[in-house]
Amino acid sequence: MCKKEYEGLPREDIMGENPVLVAASAPGKCILFGEHAVVYGQPAVAVAIEQRLTVSMSSALTWSVDGSALDEQKHPHITLLRDTWLKHGQPMALHVSGDIPSASGLGSSAALSAAVGAAMHHLAHPEKGIDRDGLSAFAHRAEAHAQQGRASPMDASTSVEGGVVVLSDRREAHGRWLYTRRLSTPEGERRWEVHGIAPPEDDVYLVLGNTGVHAPTARQVAMVAEALKSKPSRMQEIQAIGTVARRGLAALVDGDYEAVGHAMSENQILLRNLGVSSPELESLIRAAAPTALGAKLTGAGGGGCMVALTRHPKQTSEAIELAGGRTLVSKIGNTGVRLDKRTDSIP
Ligand code: MEV
Repeated sequence: MCKKEYEGLPREDIMGENPVLVAASAPGKCILFGEHAVVYGQPAVAVAIEQRLTVSMSSALTWSVDGSALDEQKHPHITLLRDTWLKHGQPMALHVSGDIPSASGLGSSAALSAAVGAAMHHLAHPEKGIDRDGLSAFAHRAEAHAQQGRASPMDASTSVEGGVVVLSDRREAHGRWLYTRRLSTPEGERRWEVHGIAPPEDDVYLVLGNTGVHAPTARQVAMVAEALKSKPSRMQEIQAIGTVARRGLAALVDGDYEAVGHAMSENQILLRNLGVSSPELESLIRAAAPTALGAKLTGAGGGGCMVALTRHPKQTSEAIELAGGRTLVSKIGNTGVRLDKRTDSIP
């Protein structure tokens, strides 16, 4: 076939592969307030972004991911999900695609757990709907495993639930309470109350600026734990982030996006003092500032992405790109994990 003939055809028809039985997708996330402090139980707010990760599955002779054999070391979460739901079933070829840059603080690993989990659960129980509670609990455990026992359920719940997610040490008056999550961390027991909120819509955008610098979340989280251990009084900085997050949340619920932006910039000052920013992040944040309502790093910091809240996405993106960042634009709050293709005839 010449290129023109196969444009638009499903991949399996081009490649001669088996047809796709199920496909599921899940969004990345962007934290507006409270990263790091949320690991210690302080409030935090995250939004599901437009960028998604999709996994499609077709029957095959052996288990594989993007053409390589499924490997427990390389794909621990996928292996665990397979062993939970499909251990004795037909082997599958998984194909992963999407537009969430990996290892950049936008929750690609939680999105992978959410999408693979939804797809496999559908194959195991086609009669049941997506079990969001169970899926986000699984994805949280997977994140905690990857972060040496210290992880909030923020990434997992945001990717599974979608929209805007609030974590707190108490049940909040705002929004819809979803569930409680608990984790035994090296620093003690933690508990989070997870909520979904629906802030008033407005003509505002998130511009995400990727520094291209890879700083593993586990390392950043361990660095903060070490700083708190060597100087326990620094817990005040964690509490101060919680206070700003609570102010930002109130502004978001009121639809006061100027105040939301202001709280984001205040949050950035506290994150910088905590030592989790970087020269590259600071340079992108500075570039965004003149056209944005507020800007800060998002995720674990040290590299990865910053986020600007703006009414002028084009100008803000251009400024960030001129400063060397790669940008993505998203509205606030998008659909959580979903089945994009389902089947009732499972082999
Ligand atoms: C990572 O996306 C956010 C952190 O707060 C870690 C976590 O919540 O598990 C740095």
